[in-house]
Amino acid sequence: MIDQPGSSILQVKNLNVFYGTFQAVSNVSFYVKSGEIFGLLGPNGAGKTSTLSSVEGLLKPQSGEITVAGFNISKQPLHARANMGVQLQATSFQPELTITEIIKLYAGIYGVNLTSEKLNALLQDIKLEEAASKKFGQLSGGQQQRVSLVISTIHDPILVMLDEPTTGLDPQSRRQLWERIEAIREKGHAVLLTTHSMEEAEAVCDRIAIIDHGKVIATDTPQGLIDLYRNDPAVISASRKGKITLEDVFIGLTGKTVRA
Ligand SMILES: Nc1ncnc2c1ncn2[C@@H]1O[C@H](COP(=O)(O)OP(=O)(O)OP(=O)(O)O)[C@@H](O)[C@H]1O
Ligand SMILES: [Mg+2]
Repeated sequence: MIDQPGSSILQVKNLNVFYGTFQAVSNVSFYVKSGEIFGLLGPNGAGKTSTLSSVEGLLKPQSGEITVAGFNISKQPLHARANMGVQLQATSFQPELTITEIIKLYAGIYGVNLTSEKLNALLQDIKLEEAASKKFGQLSGGQQQRVSLVISTIHDPILVMLDEPTTGLDPQSRRQLWERIEAIREKGHAVLLTTHSMEEAEAVCDRIAIIDHGKVIATDTPQGLIDLYRNDPAVISASRKGKITLEDVFIGLTGKTVRA
């Protein structure tokens, strides 16, 4: 069955990103539909953050067409951005502000009416109600991640983009994060994320794209990719015993060399 990108919340077509003369993203195309968790997987330096930054409007690509909720990112940037929530790979908020101040600040920026009940519910949700008056700079890395996820979804956007959201989280927080991400999917919204955890991608993503050296080299469901390559000796060694995982396919397609 061929998936139609008809109900796409995000469409990326022939995206090209250069830094000077270096091409970081090369003709990347994919779409994310309503109710879908889409994972962008690739080794360090593959071009994942550059792709996300282009969609987020933080980086101007040399060419390509990006639409979010039907709005072209270069022609109608404000409409496109109003529909997206973004968690960057390295998020830093003002370290001297308290969590409460930061959440209120961003609610204000997004025009969200945040009652104190809603604020308390949010803080409770991320188990930081006791730390409400702590300064952001005094939180641990994982606690900071939890705050930044709340902020990226505070305006209930239909497209949520998360760049390595589980990095640095303990198992409990990671589990909770995946529950939050799945709740976004259940609402019929869409999630685009990057991760280096093949296990998590295999368990949670509806579809994934494997990207390497700036190019998409495969797009499918995790199981679809495993089925496609399980009998391909160029990808999975014929002597490989046991269950074939997405990580086997990923390593087979992108190689064993650690990237410079
Ligand atoms: N501002 C920049 N100036 C020059 N080169 C850059 C810049 N940002 C990224 N690059 C280069 O572009 C390539 C893609 O980087 P990008 O950050 O998109 O990779 P990534 O897939 O997100 O990697 P990681 O998994 O390490 O986060 C890399 O070779 C990187 O060195
Ligand atoms: Mg990155």
